[in-house]
Amino acid sequence: MPVLPANAFDFLSHSPEQSRRLGMRLGAYLLPGDVICLQGELGAGKTTFVQGLASGWGSLDAVSSPTFVLVNLYRRSDGGQLFHFDTYRVESAPEAEELDLDSMLTNGPLVIEWPERMLGIIPAERLWIKLEYVDDDRRELTFLPTGQRYIDLLAEFRKSSFGTD
Ligand SMILES: Nc1ncnc2c1ncn2[C@@H]1O[C@H](COP(=O)(O)OP(=O)(O)OP(=O)(O)O)[C@@H](O)[C@H]1O
Ligand SMILES: [Mg+2]
Repeated sequence: MPVLPANAFDFLSHSPEQSRRLGMRLGAYLLPGDVICLQGELGAGKTTFVQGLASGWGSLDAVSSPTFVLVNLYRRSDGGQLFHFDTYRVESAPEAEELDLDSMLTNGPLVIEWPERMLGIIPAERLWIKLEYVDDDRRELTFLPTGQRYIDLLAEFRKSSFGTD
């Protein structure tokens, strides 16, 4: 087993429901400007995790995996917005100027599936989550924060979810 970097941790999810619950707990902490990257193969559980994340954040809209749309917008009753990217079906990596991530980030958090495909324009400070298939029902989730905001966010999330520091 490779040693995890400081502040990182991993978690073994035993079901889609558990992954959603975990996402819900994290979603409750998300603020405008936050960037969450979800890396994992097809069926690793990225969208399942986003369903929890959006619901914990307070989304009024259901999470979907758009076939041709690059980004989905979810709304909250207070006017808050959550942006959900899925670059998998996009032909070529989107350009920074086409997307204007900065103005999105002033309005809400950003959640990105297949972040590898737009790495050049994703802020260096972010919470990277790696999802790996273990068997039919289990997925390994590894949380890797970069920057103080995400180290703090993860510490709070861990405390509320597992009661540990
Ligand atoms: N512990 C688990 N956590 C999350 N999903 C699980 C788990 N066990 C089984 N699954 C199943 O794995 C599938 C994950 O699909 P999901 O759409 O979330 O993956 P994805 O990573 O978004 O894939 P894609 O790259 O196609 O968008 C679902 O069918 C889900 O029910
Ligand atoms: Mg997906």
